This record gives sequence, C-alpha cells and structure tokens, in this order.
Amino acid sequence: GIDRMNVAIDGPAGAGKSTVARKVAEQLGYIYIDTGAMYRAVTLAANRAGIASGDSEGLRTLVARLHIRLKQGEQGQIVLLDEEDVTEAIRTREVTLRVSEVASHEPVRIRLVELQRLLAAGKGIVMDGRDIGSHVLPDAELKIYLTASVGIRALRRFKELKHDGSITLEQLEQEIAERDESDEKREVSPLICAQDAVVIDSSELTIDQVVALIVDLSRTKMAEAK
Ligand code: CDP
Ligand code: CDP
Repeated sequence: GIDRMNVAIDGPAGAGKSTVARKVAEQLGYIYIDTGAMYRAVTLAANRAGIASGDSEGLRTLVARLHIRLKQGEQGQIVLLDEEDVTEAIRTREVTLRVSEVASHEPVRIRLVELQRLLAAGKGIVMDGRDIGSHVLPDAELKIYLTASVGIRALRRFKELKHDGSITLEQLEQEIAERDESDEKREVSPLICAQDAVVIDSSELTIDQVVALIVDLSRTKMAEAK
C-alpha cells in the first residue's frame, strides 16, 4: 500500500465536483485544487485588459505575465490574481459566460497545466476540472468522472442563486448546455471521460453519498497500490 495519492475529478458544470472534491480532501487530509478557478481568474484578467474574444496572442502575452496563486483559507480556497483576492470576482455571470472561450486557447492551457502539475507534484491532492484525469495528471491513482443530467445540474445551480429574477431556470439550463458543448468540442484537451476513470452519476445521490463513495475508492486504491 501507499499512504498518499492524487485524486482527479472531472465532469460537466454543476455535477458537484467542487463541493464533493472539497469534502473528499477534508476527509483524506489532502489539499483541494479547483482548476476551474484558475481559468476564471485568467478570464477576469482578460476582461479587465480588454482582450477581445478569439485574440489568442493577446491571451498568450497576458498569461505570461500573470501571477495566479491558490491559498487555503478558512472558508476554502482563496484565489489570488497578482496578489489581489479575486475569489468572489471570478464567480460573476460575466466571467461564467466567457470562461469556456478563454479556456479553449492553447497558450492559456499550457500555462495553467504547468502550474497545476507543479501543485500536484507532492501527492496528497484532490484536483477537479475538465481534463485532469485525461491530460493534467494522467498518472493520478484515482480518476472520477462525475456527471448528472443537465436538468438536475441546472436546478442545483438555480438554487444557489439569489433570486433577483435576472435569469430563469430555462436560461440557466441553456447556458450550461452551451458551456458543456464548447468544453467537449474544443481542440485542446477537451472534457472527456478518461478510459480508466470511475463514472459516478450523481443525479440521484446526495453529496455525502458521493463523498463516501470516492473516499472508499481512494482507500481501496491506496491499499492495493505498490
Ligand atoms: O464550477 P463550474 O462547473 O461552473 O465551472 P468551473 O469548474 O469553475 O470551470 C469553468 C470553466 O473553466 C469550464 O467551463 C471550462 O471551460 C474551464 N475549465 C477547463 O477548461 N479546464 C479545467 N481543468 C477546468 C475548467
Ligand atoms: O463544481 P461543479 O460545477 O461540478 O458543481 P458544484 O458547484 O460543486 O455543485 C453544484 C451544486 O449542486 C451545489 O450547490 C451542490 O450543493 C449541489 N449538489 C451536489 O453537488 N451533489 C449532489 N449530489 C446534490 C447537490
């Protein structure tokens, strides 16, 4: 057996990856890394710098000089963009609507994947995203592909919103479906289920059930590993 491993959790928007990954990390005593937050931070910076959609060269220059740092705070992961706390600023609808486009550009992905691999080098990491098991950490000891029907994922996200009437459930479902499609169809490391991933459909499972499943799988993997 081994006493530390890496866990990769991939899947579409709203499947429960970040909620579940955070709790799995807590139970295993590991560090949780939200790679979506990194793509969101680059998107925020691109919006602020006025970089137009499709401007790959503009993004290349931008990511070369940006400093993105993840810090473990008491309430969870804190995202720093050039030392500014952008944990909340990266969750706006403006960022959400553009993040898939920004994440489709190779220079952005190369830079962030490099950083993600460095963060995982010491093991004891639970990392969630779209391409973690398939590309970022192909040697992760445990890979999970977490999914749920688009209707359920939209409803979960809808429940998180402060209901100010600015978006309907139908609109939200449409936006999520579009983001999934662009994440699955992009050329550079798209969202796919790694062939050695365990698929969990959380449509009818509670958060705690999913967490328990993954923690059990982790312990089994560690006991079996040489
Ligand atoms: O939490 P939510 O599902 O809304 O998304 P997220 O995990 O914060 O990721 C936001 C976006 O970043 C995704 O829709 C992808 O376009 C991109 N992303 C990616 O391309 N690769 C990753 N490893 C993680 C996120
Ligand atoms: O990170 P990702 O986009 O995959 O999803 P999330 O933001 O972790 O989860 C979306 C919402 O679904 C959160 O409000 C969770 O509390 C809720 N949820 C879940 O994650 N898993 C379930 N089995 C049931 C609800």
